[in-house]
Amino acid sequence: MLPNDPLPSSEFDDWAETYDRSLAIDQFPFYGYESLLDKAAALADAKPGLSVLDLGTGTGNLAMRFAVLGCDLWCTDFSATMLEKTRLKLPAAHFVLHDLRGDWPPELNRSFDRIVSTYVFHHFELDEKVRILGSLLPRLAPGGRMIIGDIAFPDAAAREKVKIADGDEWEDEFYWLADETVPALENLGFIVEYTQVSACAGIFCIVESSH
Ligand SMILES: C[S@@+](CC[C@H](N)C(=O)[O-])C[C@H]1O[C@@H](n2cnc3c(N)ncnc32)[C@H](O)[C@@H]1O
Repeated sequence: MLPNDPLPSSEFDDWAETYDRSLAIDQFPFYGYESLLDKAAALADAKPGLSVLDLGTGTGNLAMRFAVLGCDLWCTDFSATMLEKTRLKLPAAHFVLHDLRGDWPPELNRSFDRIVSTYVFHHFELDEKVRILGSLLPRLAPGGRMIIGDIAFPDAAAREKVKIADGDEWEDEFYWLADETVPALENLGFIVEYTQVSACAGIFCIVESSH
């Protein structure tokens, strides 16, 4: 059964202290976590000085990959405790407490060369994912791209296979299915390329079709 409501920010506040330790356990949904983040950073192809917005930054593991490149880094999350964890690791970054489902915060009223996110959007239903990504289109600088990595499958059959194989580890959330997501994003005027990185995770590389 799918959850009726996404998790509240307090759940992530509580998780912040142990989050990095939970990634070390090589089981669903985090097996292949480091490879997914490495691949997302590679697909972003960021250069020193480019502006990078990391949505739902958590403890900053993806953001760190752009900080070491010398990017101008902006991190958002709706959990103040998660943001604080990242601030300790990356004091030079900009931080904005923001719920992705809400109005765009005035602090982020500018464009970004890269908009990135990992393991966040599976908290939202497909319509919400598409609505949020569509609203980000005007925030992309010319020639910019969005890189969204998450728990994702090529189609429902692939999801069912992993669900059966992972047994008790499996939890139902709004995992991405590439075959329904890619056309929905293309309808918004994006060009989308999907890469499956592990059995349970993949990356959407999204650019505006006029780019
Ligand atoms: C599983 S963690 C992923 C963290 C990090 N991006 C990573 O790859 O390790 C999900 C993160 O998304 C944040 N998040 C969940 N729902 C959100 C929302 N509606 N708005 C903003 N952040 C949200 C959580 O607070 C948490 O930090």
